Amino acid sequence: MRALVVVESMFGNTEEVAEAIAAGLSADGVETSVLPVREAPTSFEGVDLLVVGGPTHAFTMSRPSTRADAEDKGADTAAAEGIGLREWIDQLRGDAAVHVAVFDTKVQHPHLPGSAARAARKRLRSRGFPAVDPATTFWVAGTPGPVLSGELDRARRWGSELATLVTSSAA
Ligand SMILES: Cc1cc2nc3c(=O)[nH]c(=O)nc-3n(C[C@H](O)[C@H](O)[C@H](O)COP(=O)(O)O)c2cc1C
Repeated sequence: MRALVVVESMFGNTEEVAEAIAAGLSADGVETSVLPVREAPTSFEGVDLLVVGGPTHAFTMSRPSTRADAEDKGADTAAAEGIGLREWIDQLRGDAAVHVAVFDTKVQHPHLPGSAARAARKRLRSRGFPAVDPATTFWVAGTPGPVLSGELDRARRWGSELATLVTSSAA
């Protein structure tokens, strides 16, 4: 059983969450790798589970303009200048054999509407990935973070639940 976690992250918070999800998957026996979206493949030979995560920017997935905005606020330059989930998903061709799970990070205070994960889910389904789980959000304290207390444990548990789901559906 193999999982690939593809993550977009400007300030490192979504990446931390992705690593915690990967730890949960690995602890439950799923061989898991984590890749930044700018290095992610566009075909998924041998991948049973694809986990896709990114930060919510302006109520949805990032765009070049919001990534530039993040860079102005001190985000990682390589992440800001590379592609985001939106541009990566647009390169994909659907694969019904791959189970997909999506997550995002968002600021909890104030609680703003919109979700990168919900937008990514919609776009993945329209690209031909039928089996996409409902979107999950993990909370950060503000634009640069940090991830709120308890969220990394929740991410690890979510990874573990995903492992159970894909392992049982393959049995
Ligand atoms: C340009 C920009 C727009 C943002 N818009 C939103 C938003 O609409 N809703 C929200 O909850 N957080 C918003 N945020 C905060 C991000 O969600 C937060 O920076 C992100 O979760 C941190 O993840 P990262 O460290 O992986 O980049 C925005 C951040 C930036 C830089």
